[in-house]
Amino acid sequence: MANAPEFIIDGLKATVEGKEILKGLNIKIKGGEVHAIMGPNGTGKSTLASTIMGHPKYEVTEGSISLNGEDVLEMAVDERARAGLFLAMQYPSEITGVTNADFLRSAINARRGEGNEISLIKFIRQMEGKMKELEMNPEFMHRYLNEGFSGGEKKRNEILQMMLLDPSIVILDEIDSGLDIDALRIVATGVNAMRSEDRGFLIITHYQRLLNYIKPDFVHVMMQGRIVKSGGPELAERLENEGYDWIKEELGIVDETVGQDEGEFKVPMNTTAPKY
Ligand SMILES: Nc1ncnc2c1ncn2[C@@H]1O[C@H](COP(=O)(O)OP(=O)(O)OP(=O)(O)O)[C@@H](O)[C@H]1O
Ligand SMILES: [Mg+2]
Repeated sequence: MANAPEFIIDGLKATVEGKEILKGLNIKIKGGEVHAIMGPNGTGKSTLASTIMGHPKYEVTEGSISLNGEDVLEMAVDERARAGLFLAMQYPSEITGVTNADFLRSAINARRGEGNEISLIKFIRQMEGKMKELEMNPEFMHRYLNEGFSGGEKKRNEILQMMLLDPSIVILDEIDSGLDIDALRIVATGVNAMRSEDRGFLIITHYQRLLNYIKPDFVHVMMQGRIVKSGGPELAERLENEGYDWIKEELGIVDETVGQDEGEFKVPMNTTAPKY
């Protein structure tokens, strides 16, 4: 497996149902780094995550995404997962008829490739070990994927998947939403244990609280479908204390959502967001 991954998004524009949501987004994530993306509702954060993973609703119209020099946009959805991209979704899907264990084993084997499948014994041992770390009830192994799971249980299950799949780029979309205080700590401990030079993280969150547990190296603010400001952990602290108005004022942004057309787009379209 490639170590020290390098994941680069350059000038990414994407539309959904003919409407442009991502409007020229740049970010570079290297192995060992944790990047946090914050931003008001409806600014394109989940769209970014879905676009990276190749969700068919989101059409890339400009720009590029690469992982270790390979063109991600050329890859089918399953190839992206096999290449090491992982997304913990903001709203995980429920799949009736497929047990958690079946799903996980298939996903692990897809990632490992033909001829290199994990043995059943080894899989069960690994799954049990990780479930224990996440303080999950073993019965969740045999339940249908996410069906009837509480909000917090779904989030914990996403982290279980992450731990077992050993991805090189991890995207967590509001992993903290719906978690109680103890679960937040458990999930953060799980994520921190996965931090390594072989893995980069993109963490979408609304709250500084999560970043107290998972210390980011970089914090980015997303508005109008682009990253409009980047900094270190102190940026998240300032947002927590002061909200987003000061950034909007600084940049002359009136409406931070992606709803406006170009005529109302106050930040010049050709301004490139800070690059890392
Ligand atoms: N499949 C879709 N069909 C129609 N509109 C969509 C679709 N996906 C995203 N959008 C629109 O794109 C905009 C950005 O949505 P997105 O989910 O990316 O925001 P977000 O930044 O993740 O917000 P939140 O913080 O509330 O999760 C919204 O106006 C949303 O309604
Ligand atoms: Mg979202």
